[in-house]
Amino acid sequence: MFESVIVALWAMLPAYVPNNAAVVVGGGRPIDGGHTVGGRRLLGDGKTWQGTVGGTLSGILTGVLLNLLAVVLPIDGLVPTFPLLALLGLAGGAMGGDIGASLVKRRLNRERGSPVPGLDQLDFVVGALICTPILAPGWFFDTFSPLVILIVLVITPLLHLGLNVVAFHLGLKNEPY
Ligand code: CTP
Ligand code: MG
Repeated sequence: MFESVIVALWAMLPAYVPNNAAVVVGGGRPIDGGHTVGGRRLLGDGKTWQGTVGGTLSGILTGVLLNLLAVVLPIDGLVPTFPLLALLGLAGGAMGGDIGASLVKRRLNRERGSPVPGLDQLDFVVGALICTPILAPGWFFDTFSPLVILIVLVITPLLHLGLNVVAFHLGLKNEPY
């Protein structure tokens, strides 16, 4: 069980980083090009090309660094190493899930930045868990046992909320969620 928690967190790190990195590197032209459907933006100004590409690259870089770390730390064999296609699935899938959530939010008439509990905490996880088995099926099913997937689905929202509370108290965020 403990080992599965370690594997779950390690394997998901390249999917956790992109959305946070996008906040830092995002900006410029929105993906939807400003297009509206039914009077509402398709995605909104919060989803930019720069943020998406930068976020994905930062997730891939995270995985490359973890691969190096796994070699120097005495944890070889316990944690998975990431092939490039798995990193593309984890990082790109996380960004894709977040973009999909924006699409849903705009259809639900939610303003950019408005929180949607549940969706906000799981969109990137679901995106990563859909894209990675498509791009790297062998690696995915070796690494993500049903137990590991369950742990990811339970731990991620808790971790997400916990970090946001910390960021709120540090004055980095305006809301504790
Ligand atoms: N960002 C970006 N490109 C992405 C994702 C995020 O540029 N693909 C940047 C944007 O500056 C965005 C910020 O990161 O405002 C925070 O991301 P997020 O909370 O996902 O977007 P919101 O602004 O809340 O927009 P939405 O309501 O559509 O989720
Ligand atoms: Mg937001």
